[in-house]
Amino acid sequence: MTSDSQAGLPLEETSLSSGEAAVALRRATADDIEAFYAISLATGDRGGDAAALYRDPRMLGHIYAGPYLTLCPEHCFVAEDGEGVGGYVVGTLDTRAFEARLEQDWWPALRRRYPPPAGEPKRWDADQRRCYMIHNPRCVPDKVVRAYPGHLHMNLLPRLQGRGLGPALLGLWLSNAQARGCRAVHIATSATNPRALYFWTAHGFAEVLQTSDHGSSGTIWCGRSLATCG
Ligand SMILES: CC(C)(COP(=O)(O)OP(=O)(O)OC[C@H]1O[C@@H](n2cnc3c(N)ncnc32)[C@H](O)[C@@H]1OP(=O)(O)O)[C@@H](O)C(=O)NCCC(=O)NCCS
Repeated sequence: MTSDSQAGLPLEETSLSSGEAAVALRRATADDIEAFYAISLATGDRGGDAAALYRDPRMLGHIYAGPYLTLCPEHCFVAEDGEGVGGYVVGTLDTRAFEARLEQDWWPALRRRYPPPAGEPKRWDADQRRCYMIHNPRCVPDKVVRAYPGHLHMNLLPRLQGRGLGPALLGLWLSNAQARGCRAVHIATSATNPRALYFWTAHGFAEVLQTSDHGSSGTIWCGRSLATCG
């Protein structure tokens, strides 16, 4: 690893087809945090914009973006064009250790700020369901984490989708993980996000398990070995 990449400078420039602006892929820095929250919301409804679903626009980012950049920035990369950061890939090599870290260093402050939801769960709105998750975080099922201990999330704004940046960011994340000794990783996707499922399957992830949670249409867990990357 070069000192340039550690300082958040571009790792590589991806040249896109003519008419499209160049996009830099680089390590994320703490200054990217607001972009992480915004992207998480703009892609948080099964890949689409979740802004209309939430009263508090930070609820999704508190769960799926903020803790990664804060607790494990060494596994966070972004895609940035002239309009700014428009996509990220984040994750951890050890999901159980990350869950323990969240309990110690991330959830307590949020639990003080967001009280647990009251009333009938069936009547909870999206904010209340996320509050419940902050107070009762879901652990990844043993079957998934035993075979695939690391995990990642990837989210690109619409302007960066369908341009080969998903595969490029994934390759970067997997190479970084493999270089750090990771042997296998998983992802979780909504059963009603066919584009994401197509993407992960096309890049070597195979279904391990399906679960269904209160108020959701179901989660598909997929795993992939890192024996070969790219
Ligand atoms: C899912 C995502 C990471 C993929 O990255 P990407 O750079 O757009 O991926 P690509 O363009 O290489 O691949 C998209 C593929 O899905 C296909 N696709 C597009 N819409 C689709 C749909 N509704 N159903 C199935 N496949 C679809 C495209 O044709 C393309 O296929 P191809 O590679 O065979 O041409 C990105 O689109 C994204 O961030 N989406 C929003 C957030 C999200 O859903 N994240 C994943 C959560 S698990």
